[in-house]
Amino acid sequence: MGPIGVFDSGYGGLTILREIRRSLPGYDFMYLGDNARAPYGTRSFDVVYEFTLQAVKALFERGCRLVILACNTASAKALRTIQQRDLPSIDPSRRVLGVIVPTIEKLGEVSSNGNIGILATPGTVSSGTYDIEIAKFFPRFRTVSRACPMWVPLVENCEHDGPGADYFVEKYVNSLFEEEPEIDTLVLGCTHYPLLLPKIEKAVAGRAAIITQGRLVADSLADYLRRHPDMDADCSKEGTVTYLTTEHPDKFTGMASIFMEQPVSASRIEL
Ligand code: DGL
Repeated sequence: MGPIGVFDSGYGGLTILREIRRSLPGYDFMYLGDNARAPYGTRSFDVVYEFTLQAVKALFERGCRLVILACNTASAKALRTIQQRDLPSIDPSRRVLGVIVPTIEKLGEVSSNGNIGILATPGTVSSGTYDIEIAKFFPRFRTVSRACPMWVPLVENCEHDGPGADYFVEKYVNSLFEEEPEIDTLVLGCTHYPLLLPKIEKAVAGRAAIITQGRLVADSLADYLRRHPDMDADCSKEGTVTYLTTEHPDKFTGMASIFMEQPVSASRIEL
């Protein structure tokens, strides 16, 4: 089989790719960041769906048989339609998976009182996907969500370490706990947010366990590949990563190298 495709609106999916590579070092991956059109979090349902479908098709055309939407906004707004409506006509043997269900599956092990806080993009929050899916897995759990529209721009503009970020991190975290002080588990429902983790931990100050997605998605993918040998690959060699971006490659590689903690090179594609 070809490389495993990993898609995000920008750099955030690299936090997922990094963990997947640690778990599956023998696999080849193809990462696609739609950096020229990020962020997706404030875009309409139709536009996120249209952009995500274009990206999935581009990865399929380049040999991927399995694509991970390493973006909560795309998983919330486009995954189901692509799986149910588009895949049967494009190629029923190909697969597209998201990041929301692998995250939710973990909550039962972490939460004691069933009060779950969700921090995510405006698009993910307004879709209600986390609330709906959590209710299916854990009907007694209660969810409180807060959209964090400033967090992705802080990360995309490399300001996540800067002093300006503290203000916006505290603002959203504190407003969530003001609404529900009993939250014991906090989901970072956006793949960009792990870059803000030190500041989020400081703002949460031990009030809740914080769930990031990279490890959970990596474990879930490894399990999926064990259960679907038709999607499996020859893993006897060191795997490779091909990086694609819709932005200028020089702009992408600088930031991507920070996310991946190693130098990367990229090519530009049009969607
Ligand atoms: N990283 C994406 C997510 O997980 C979204 C970022 C964006 O707004 O484009 O939702």
